[in-house]
Amino acid sequence: MSDTHLQQRIALITGASSGIGRATARLLSQHGLHVVLTARRVARLNDLAEEIRTQGGTALVLPADLAQADSRIALIRQIRETWGPVEVLINNAGFGWGGDVASLPWETAQAMIEVNIAALVHLTTLVLPEMVARRQGWIVNVASIAGDMPTPRIALYSATKTFVQSFSEALYRDLRRRGVHISIVNPGPIATEFGQVAYGWPEQKSRRGTTPDQAAQAVWWALRRARKRVYVPWYYRPLRWLNLTLEWALDRGVHTHLRKWQHRLLGRQ
Ligand SMILES: NC(=O)c1ccc[n+]([C@@H]2O[C@H](COP(=O)([O-])OP(=O)(O)OC[C@H]3O[C@@H](n4cnc5c(N)ncnc54)[C@H](OP(=O)(O)O)[C@@H]3O)[C@@H](O)[C@H]2O)c1
Repeated sequence: MSDTHLQQRIALITGASSGIGRATARLLSQHGLHVVLTARRVARLNDLAEEIRTQGGTALVLPADLAQADSRIALIRQIRETWGPVEVLINNAGFGWGGDVASLPWETAQAMIEVNIAALVHLTTLVLPEMVARRQGWIVNVASIAGDMPTPRIALYSATKTFVQSFSEALYRDLRRRGVHISIVNPGPIATEFGQVAYGWPEQKSRRGTTPDQAAQAVWWALRRARKRVYVPWYYRPLRWLNLTLEWALDRGVHTHLRKWQHRLLGRQ
């Protein structure tokens, strides 16, 4: 399928200062979309915008703390005033926290719910009326394989991603005949700063895994083919069925053994 229908579109990418969001912004710009970059770290957004412009692309930097409802409203208003309505929304910003829920600080839990859930829903409700009115729009929500399989030690993070999957699937069913395409991208482990933020891993360990560029390709694939659900890497696709059929084994900790085998197989520690 040709992707000319996406060229010159205004695309908002959240979490563009790092990892999957940064790689996605680069890729969408290479495919001719006008990209709006948002996150909190403005210096990184400016560097990326500079790089995109040097390569002939168009980028707008609008820093925002997406945990704040006011910032989300201001962000969409600024885009509309500067460039026009958002036509492509990539809800990618998010973070996790690893450990026992018993020691999870409420402020961290609240911020995670705000960024991973509330911001995704809020931005969607802010851009959707215009998309529905025009009968045209694309929303890609970055969830996780952890949303398919509730995972110990990242319990709240898993739950936020299950929410993203459920919300997106229902929205897909609502909108599929109304010209607005909803896609879910479910990454497995990707070599970004996610591990540093969630587990305090050193940067070197965070470099292992599928690359952010591969994850960005999955986002692009979902977008240009209007795919409902895409996995990256693809072989994590059976996980949601495994979670249902092997519930008894998972309750007894079989995933811990699987992870050890996987690490041994891939030569990881
Ligand atoms: N890496 C993985 O293994 C993996 C696996 C499955 C799913 N995912 C999902 O992929 C998405 C991208 O994560 P990543 O792996 O690319 O991690 P990352 O490198 O840590 O990037 C996270 C992005 O989210 C932004 N962000 C976090 N809190 C924010 C806030 N309050 N306001 C605005 N932006 C905020 C960060 O920007 P600032 O800090 O500059 O604000 C950053 O750009 C997330 O939704 C994550 O859950 C990742």
